[in-house]
Amino acid sequence: MHPMEQSSPRASTYLAEGAAHGEAASKTSADHAGNALSPGGPSPKMRARNLTVRYGPIVAVTDVSLDVPARQVLALIGPSGCGKSTFLRSLNRMNDTVPGAVVSGDVELDGQSICGTEIDPVLVRKRVGMVFQRASPFPTSIFENVAYTVRVAAHRGQRDVADRVEHALRQAELWNEVKDRLKESGTSLSGGQQQRLCIARALAVEPEVLLMDEPTSALDPIATAKIEELVSELRKGLTIVIVTHSMQQAARISHRTGFFNMGSLIEVGDTTTMFTRPREHQTEDYISGRFG
Ligand SMILES: Nc1ncnc2c1ncn2[C@@H]1O[C@H](COP(=O)(O)OP(=O)(O)OP(=O)(O)O)[C@@H](O)[C@H]1O
Ligand SMILES: [Mg+2]
Repeated sequence: MHPMEQSSPRASTYLAEGAAHGEAASKTSADHAGNALSPGGPSPKMRARNLTVRYGPIVAVTDVSLDVPARQVLALIGPSGCGKSTFLRSLNRMNDTVPGAVVSGDVELDGQSICGTEIDPVLVRKRVGMVFQRASPFPTSIFENVAYTVRVAAHRGQRDVADRVEHALRQAELWNEVKDRLKESGTSLSGGQQQRLCIARALAVEPEVLLMDEPTSALDPIATAKIEELVSELRKGLTIVIVTHSMQQAARISHRTGFFNMGSLIEVGDTTTMFTRPREHQTEDYISGRFG
């Protein structure tokens, strides 16, 4: 019997609740051979290679190599302060905007480095969008929140902008709730609606990858369920990386899960395996609630 089965009934309950993807269930331990995707599996949309991020003397991320599979959901879990947000920000050059952050190593998008000084980070962020923990609508109308991004991303005619706004709000499963109040302030929406507005804003520029940093941690269970349904819908056409403190959430929505601890990527594998037969003791201890 695997040690997890003896010592940790909680681990498998994540999967019972989450009904993790059937497709993920049949992978073997070969998947654990490294942090790269196994041959014949999904191709990587992004790759981090020997990524290290420092804030002055603090090393927040240490030598992380990780593949992000195309058109799947990759969940990142781990205790507070282990470097999840810092790692996520390095996938779209957001650490450039954090004073004192120094990044070494490389990140590739479709096989091309996004890290060189010659690469425009604004163009990277168009392709790799981001949604944060706290929804932060602009202090403008619901319509303008999304339209602004559309106009910045592409010079479009007015009619085209309106169509694009509607499309993004539909993609974010918000259109039916706001279509009759588009001129009202974005901040007049509920927390869950504001978060979906921010997702619509991110989708409006038609990114290829969406990074989500604890997008539901400030939301009630019903609003959380809506965002999770939305992620499950979006993953059909988009590559998603989501940081979450909820292992149930990781089990429900992700294909693969990576576990971070103290700046290092301890292991990554298909979600079912991670929650039932993790390779590392640290992972087992974390998912069974022994630390973190
Ligand atoms: N702007 C910053 N300046 C200095 N240190 C920072 C900064 N941002 C993060 N850190 C430090 O880097 C480490 C990793 O932080 P990070 O926010 O990436 O962790 P996290 O895993 O996202 O944590 P949480 O789950 O609490 O959000 C921590 O030690 C943190 O204190
Ligand atoms: Mg964080």
